[in-house]
Amino acid sequence: MRKPFLAGNWKMNKTVDEAVELAKELVENVGDVKDRDILICPTSLCLTEVAKIVKGTSVKLGAQNMSFEDSGAFTGEVSADMLLAAGCDYVIIGHSERREYYHEDNEAVNKKAKKALEKGINAIVCVGEKLEEREAGKAESVVEDHLKGAFSGISGEDAVKITIAYEPVWAIGTGKTATPEDADNMHAFIRKTLADIYDEAAAEKMRIQYGGSVKDSNVDELMARENIDGALVGGASLKADSFARIVKFK
Ligand code: 13P
Repeated sequence: MRKPFLAGNWKMNKTVDEAVELAKELVENVGDVKDRDILICPTSLCLTEVAKIVKGTSVKLGAQNMSFEDSGAFTGEVSADMLLAAGCDYVIIGHSERREYYHEDNEAVNKKAKKALEKGINAIVCVGEKLEEREAGKAESVVEDHLKGAFSGISGEDAVKITIAYEPVWAIGTGKTATPEDADNMHAFIRKTLADIYDEAAAEKMRIQYGGSVKDSNVDELMARENIDGALVGGASLKADSFARIVKFK
């Protein structure tokens, strides 16, 4: 059985003080949870302070991005070692906003995934098609390309440590959610692709989150689907009560 995994991607929101406040409220709202994994991903600037709040609680800490380099002259970048030292257990890699606005390609995503594995920080690798790709009937081929690119040269033993987030770009921040059925079909396709790259056993172990306008009002029906193992939540993770309700999906 795959343990449900609910993650909040705070994107470029919240000052340090606001992030600390939200983390405190969330920890209180969520309480002691053992049967599901809970993660919040504030901006890099907030990690150290938020780490102090979530330490020893059911809420884990993650970053939104990471360099594939170890250290040196890479202005504006943050390394895996820095994230680990700040208290991060996880890092999001290849989010569509990074792909779209910062030109991250499959090769960069692959290098970051390998760096995360080398350093022992858990990676959430994002995949997903744009609206025009879906309308052109290319949704599956785009997702397959993202998966093959991200996992290139990664062994099955390592691959199972990675979480995948399927985030159709047209559903992010738009209020348009893929129907639970459409999302589940794509998740099944992702699992089949992983089984082709590795094997059935590896594919069965891997967790696949859905992301794109997940809210407290639609999380239950999404999480009821066989292949949906969790959610990567943007907007609705910025309020403690709505994210706590998402975490407590029924
Ligand atoms: P929204 O939940 O705001 O649509 O964002 C989804 C997302 O991109 C999470 O990484």
